[in-house]
Amino acid sequence: MGKQKLILDVDTGTDDAVAVMLAALHPDLELVGVTTVNGNAEVRYCTENTLRVLDAIDRSDIPVFEGQRKPLVRDDFPVPRFDGDLTDKIHGKYLDVAPASSKKQQGHAVEFLVETYRNASEEIILVPVAPLTNIAAALVAEPKFADWVPRIVLMGGAHLHGNTTPSAEFNIWADPEAARIVFAAGFADITMVPLDATHKALVTLDDCKKLRSLGTAAGRLTAQFTEHRIGVHDEIQRMDIAHSAPVHDALCIAHLLHPEVITLEEHHVDVECEGRLTVGQTVIDTRKRGRGQPNCKVAFDADAGLFVDTLIKTFS
Ligand code: RIB
Ligand code: CA
Repeated sequence: MGKQKLILDVDTGTDDAVAVMLAALHPDLELVGVTTVNGNAEVRYCTENTLRVLDAIDRSDIPVFEGQRKPLVRDDFPVPRFDGDLTDKIHGKYLDVAPASSKKQQGHAVEFLVETYRNASEEIILVPVAPLTNIAAALVAEPKFADWVPRIVLMGGAHLHGNTTPSAEFNIWADPEAARIVFAAGFADITMVPLDATHKALVTLDDCKKLRSLGTAAGRLTAQFTEHRIGVHDEIQRMDIAHSAPVHDALCIAHLLHPEVITLEEHHVDVECEGRLTVGQTVIDTRKRGRGQPNCKVAFDADAGLFVDTLIKTFS
């Protein structure tokens, strides 16, 4: 069987960076391109950070296309970004990696997405691990986009608890209207990887030691980014295992390699776009109380050991 092709849509960010390296370095995957979007930082920083990471692992051949600078219909996030907020602490603006020597592509991310899928002759999985602004913009530009994309695996949402608010996860919260459009667009195959799964695939300081001992750029950077994430989580969002952190986005890539790394259930998912307390909440109809038919597979559990082993084996 040939390599599985994919496109990553990112807001690089420390965990996006690990997803990019896993997708770029695993021999069974072909990272066709990376699109960037406003999220953890302003899109120009997300683009630079993505280029820095690809340069650091000698994969500057992978094209990077810059996308939307702000949410689809809102002027800003539901609560405008401010220095020192959660994403600023976990990601910051520039990743601590050498400045990029490679350059972004000239075309816009949304145009790249629409034209790539319009002309695709083979399956290309779309893996958004950021606010869904680019994906929704592609649907607005070309409604047939939902028919052309065979499979989406996205990091976002939450059932039990949020991270940005008590009820909302950041990627959905940052552009709730875009997320609502994506879940309602009729994509044939959506897998949603929410906090309920990523918070069960925790990476520890001991795992970071093993990654660092690999002696590779990817191992060293994954350890560096994750140790930083652990420090912030210990301080302001302690996980069930002390001195550990989720590496949310990379779990989506691990699922492409080992589907069993997450446990899925089919449910109807919609997004709350109003509400002082609930804006950005993913409403997952686990008890079939609504009229909506299941529109995606939702991950409620994950295998942390398999996840970490996949990182170590790929980055060795
Ligand atoms: O809530 C976690 C998500 O928000 C991850 O994709 C992280 O990179 C941030 O974008
Ligand atoms: Ca992300």
